[in-house]
Amino acid sequence: MENEFGGSWTETKIEILEKYASAYLTIMNKYPFHLTYFDGFAGSGEIKIGNEEDFKIIEGAAQKIVDISTPRSFDIYYFVEKDEKKKQRLETSVRSKRPNNVFVVAEDCNVVLERLAGFLRKDKMRKTLVFLDPFGMNLDWSSIENLKGLGVDLWLLSPTGVGANRLLKKDLNISEAWWKRLEKFFGIDRELITKSIYQENTVTDLFGSRTVITKSSQANDKLFEIYSEKLKTIFALVSNPYVIVNRNNSLMYHFFCASNNESAIKIANDLVSKHNKKT
Ligand SMILES: C[S@@+](CC[C@H](N)C(=O)[O-])C[C@H]1O[C@@H](n2cnc3c(N)ncnc32)[C@H](O)[C@@H]1O
Repeated sequence: MENEFGGSWTETKIEILEKYASAYLTIMNKYPFHLTYFDGFAGSGEIKIGNEEDFKIIEGAAQKIVDISTPRSFDIYYFVEKDEKKKQRLETSVRSKRPNNVFVVAEDCNVVLERLAGFLRKDKMRKTLVFLDPFGMNLDWSSIENLKGLGVDLWLLSPTGVGANRLLKKDLNISEAWWKRLEKFFGIDRELITKSIYQENTVTDLFGSRTVITKSSQANDKLFEIYSEKLKTIFALVSNPYVIVNRNNSLMYHFFCASNNESAIKIANDLVSKHNKKT
């Protein structure tokens, strides 16, 4: 089971995805496409929300999505969960609801996404809804790059605050390992990240002149901007994000859709704006 000590944003995230999937299936029902649902960080099928004394257990996104069958369901469901034990629990729960056409594998999502892309490239009659919901920065940019030019709508949880921004230390004293992680995630080099987030100023006082580095107070917004601009090299359009903050109002995640289809982004923007207002 996933353990989450946090607010209802997990439920909202799943609700947005569920509503989008329903709208997607309603639209696609008019066309002869073969529809795949792909969840790359699928979890165990259940999520614990709250703390040890006061919690509730809810169904994870995978269970909610396999439940949708009106006006139609997906032709194939593909779930990837790296942790073998979670994978087994997930398999039991989704199979009990939908015994056929469901595949669950315990692998690294980055590897499986490459395989998925190769498969989709061969068959233009396949459309895929991809949901990527990592905890941290374990999704590589090169995995997303694979999806260029394919019939894919992507919903992505970006760990902008809990991942990227946390690695970007105020004084720019960032280890080589962290820079490599950031570059692998964003698919851009450290110079560009530095230029967007930090400013160098010369300060002169009684002790002379020195260079002072300041980190932007808008770092999270800038990181989202960088990521969404980069995503626009793969997908024609990126929606506005559902903004997820913690109790102290610090940004944790951005949840948004990328697609080559205008109607997809319109639906995503409507869902996001409704839920941003609610929170
Ligand atoms: C935020 S949870 C997913 C929750 C899920 N979307 C739900 O609604 O229940 C992220 C999951 O990704 C798994 N994971 C982490 N790195 C992975 C990787 N490289 N490939 C596949 N799964 C991974 C973790 O074990 C964890 O269960």
